[in-house]
Order: sequence, then structure tokens, then C-alpha cells
Amino acid sequence: MTAQDRSALFPTDADRERWDDFLTRELLHAHRAVAQGPVTPRLDLARFRAELEKYDFRDTGDLEPVLSWTVAQLEHGLVHVNHPRYFGLFNPAPTFPAQCADRIAAAFNPQLATSTTSPVAVAIEAHVIRSVAQRAGFLDDATGHFTTGGAEANYTALVCALTWANAQFAADGARAFDGAPMFYTSKECHLAWLKIAHQAGIGRAAVRFVATDGSGRMDAAALASLIDADRAEGRVPVMIAATAGTTNAGMIDPLIACAEIARVRGIWFHVDAAWGGALIASDRLRGALAGIERADSVTIDAHKWFATTMGCGMFITRHGAVLSSAFHAANDFMPSNVASLDPYVNSVQWSRRFLGLRLFLSLAVAGWDGYGAHVEHSVAMIGLLRAALEPKGWRVANEPTMAVLCLEPPGGGNVRAIVRHVVGSGRAWVSAASFEGREIVRACATHGETSPDDVTELANALQEAREATRL
Ligand SMILES: Cc1ncc(COP(=O)(O)O)c(C=O)c1O
Repeated sequence: MTAQDRSALFPTDADRERWDDFLTRELLHAHRAVAQGPVTPRLDLARFRAELEKYDFRDTGDLEPVLSWTVAQLEHGLVHVNHPRYFGLFNPAPTFPAQCADRIAAAFNPQLATSTTSPVAVAIEAHVIRSVAQRAGFLDDATGHFTTGGAEANYTALVCALTWANAQFAADGARAFDGAPMFYTSKECHLAWLKIAHQAGIGRAAVRFVATDGSGRMDAAALASLIDADRAEGRVPVMIAATAGTTNAGMIDPLIACAEIARVRGIWFHVDAAWGGALIASDRLRGALAGIERADSVTIDAHKWFATTMGCGMFITRHGAVLSSAFHAANDFMPSNVASLDPYVNSVQWSRRFLGLRLFLSLAVAGWDGYGAHVEHSVAMIGLLRAALEPKGWRVANEPTMAVLCLEPPGGGNVRAIVRHVVGSGRAWVSAASFEGREIVRACATHGETSPDDVTELANALQEAREATRL
């Protein structure tokens, strides 16, 4: 490799400044263009693939044109979660401070495996985790860490529960148990639990899907009987995973009842509040999460309703010692190996990106009040959607405290055809899902700048799709 080739990777300060400015302008332009354009992609994929093939990595070029090309492809080649009429899955339009955090983390590229190498970054993350834990009602002894997302945080919970249930799990895995270890979540839960059971080595059959009560919440009586029946038959219940903010409907399982069932039976109680956990920010709405403070562990994703950039979840627990015993790793080559302090001996990951800065900067400028206003705004937008559609005969299938609406079209319209019609129009993005066994149109307010006009546009698009797909 010549010196010239290497300078493309590590340019001069002057070039860095020029390309940084160039990229900032391109991104700002794309940000504006996205909000004016369709929510769904309009890219000619065949042309895009042909252009992509030209990058054979033998011929090289300047950075500016490839930056510009990349931004343009993304501007036209994605479903835009950062469009104010994306009423979609829990993917947010990211806060601007979180985007700044990504730039800072990329520039310093700190290794967060140990506190010795990155003391400031590790301390910032720990500070944010403590603040979120306290806001959720945990005592000062709660600890935790940032994860890549909710699935990793939930996986962490299961490994902790297994380790807590049986100290021999560390050495012998599932073989340590006298009977098959099982855990309990509702049938409206997020299905990553199946992958998690598989990865943890206890098998997908270990996930017990508890019946719901007809309104999308775990049926506490059914939960208790299932656990007791499993015990009576020699299986080993290890964890109850309640959901606070179900994926399809934003419903909250009966947390206090679940906590009590877990306490009486000596089982780990986890709350998957991946999306709904952000409700802790709102003084008005946080009461809906009562009981979360009784959990042994909690998942809250920053990259959902806290609207950081992607790949940012949180795992919080009151059992720091269990976390350390589940993830410790003796070695003599890392700069330090301090239980409860060094992230790599308390979590699934080893090398770690500085994820927590995204929430730190966002909280530092908006505070809990700013985030409270953010979640209240989402809930208000979903209230407007309901008010617009119910008089036209649409039925709301869930009774939401959060910002998800499950809609049944008037006269039993074809949900999938309606969703295809709306999404195909590019006017808005909604999804087809099921709630309590019924097909529904799912709309979730995820964008912090969705306005009443955007809601009206979605309501009109849904109503027109209903008419167009009749028969
Ligand atoms: C309730 C719930 N738990 C867990 C997850 C998985 O989170 P992630 O996609 O961040 O891994 C999701 C994702 O939507 C979810 O809704």
C-alpha cells in the first residue's frame, strides 16, 4: 500500500474539515428532503444494484462523490423512520444530541470494556444507568449497563435468572437443573424470547406463553397456575418476564400481581419495558408502570421511545453480584478485571462502543421534563388518531395508555390490503399485526415531531384505503 492510499483512510486536517462540512450539509439537505417526500422508498433497485457493482474496490475515488452517492441512495432507498408520518414499529427519529454522540464516539472510538482504559466514558454510562434506575423507582444499589438493544438486555436477564436460580448453571448449563428450566411471558410478548431461550441453551420449549386476559395483558391467574403445574410436574420455573408496552399494542402486564407471584414462588421477576419504559419520564403517565420498581431486572431501550440512534438498550438490575457472577471472565491480558466496575466482566459484550453518550447528551439538554413532554406528545397524537377514526366506524381493539393504536376497519375491511394501500401511497407508514388473535392495523407515534396535520393525513389515507379496498 502506498502512502497515498493510506492518506485516503487518514486524511489531513484540512481534508477532514472539508469533508466533515460537506457531509454535514448533505445530511441536513437529506433531513429536509425526507420530511417532504414519501415515507417509503422510491429507488430503482436494479439501477442501484448496477451502480453498487461498480464498486469493485480496485479502482478508487474521492470521498466526496461516494459520500454524496451514499446519502442519496439512503434518501431514496429506505423506509424513513425519521419521517413524521412513520407510524411504525418502535424505531424512532433519533434526537439530534444522540446523533452528536455518535460523532463524538466515532472520533474518539473509546474501548468501553474496562474502566481503566476509558474511565470517563465508563463513568458517564454508569451515571446514566443509575439515573434511569432511580427514575424507575430502584434504590441506589441498582446497577446495569448499556446493551445493543432489547433482545440483548432480555438475554442478559435470562442468564441472570438461571445463574441466580442455580449456582451450578455457570459450570453445567441446563444440566445443572433437576428438571427442565422454564420461564413465563405472555403470548403478546416480543418473540425474541424464543431466540434467547435457544441461545441460552435451555431450548425454545422453555418459553411458556401465558394466556392474556382479552385486553392484551398477561392473565395473572393463568400465570400462577402454569408455574404451579410445571413445578408439580418436575420442571423448574426460573423467571417471569412481564411486558410493559407490548410490541403490537403497547399494553402493560399486571406488574404488581406478577411481582407478587414471583416473590411468593422465589422466581426472578423481569420487566421487558423495552419501549414502554420511557414512560418513567412523564410525571403524568409513569403511574401506569407501578410495580416496575419491584423487578429483579428491567429492560429499557434508549433506541425506542427515548429516541436515541439505533443499537442502544439498557439492562438494569438490583442484583449486581449476580450480574458479575454470570459474566465474569478471569484473564491476565485485559488492563483490569474489577467485578461490578469493568463492563466486560458484567455483560454479554467484550469490546464495547460508547453507547450511553447518546442518552446522556439527550437527557442533559432535555432533562426528564423534556422527555416527559416527548412521550406525552406521542400519546396525544395517538389520541387524535383515535378521535379522527372512531366516528368513521373504525374500532379501537386495544385500550392504550401508551402511543399505539390497534384499529379494526369498519365492516371488517381487509387489514393487509388497507396497509399495503397506505404504505404504497408513500403518505404514511403503518403495519398489519394481530391483537388478541384479531388482525389489526397498527399505528404507533414514534416521531417526536409528528403533528396534528400528519395525523389527519394518516387518518385520511386509512379511510381512503378502506374505500379503495372495499371488496
Ligand atoms: C417489548 C419488546 N421487547 C424487546 C424487543 C427487542 O428489542 P431490540 O429490537 O432492541 O433488540 C422489542 C422490539 O421491538 C420489543 O418491542
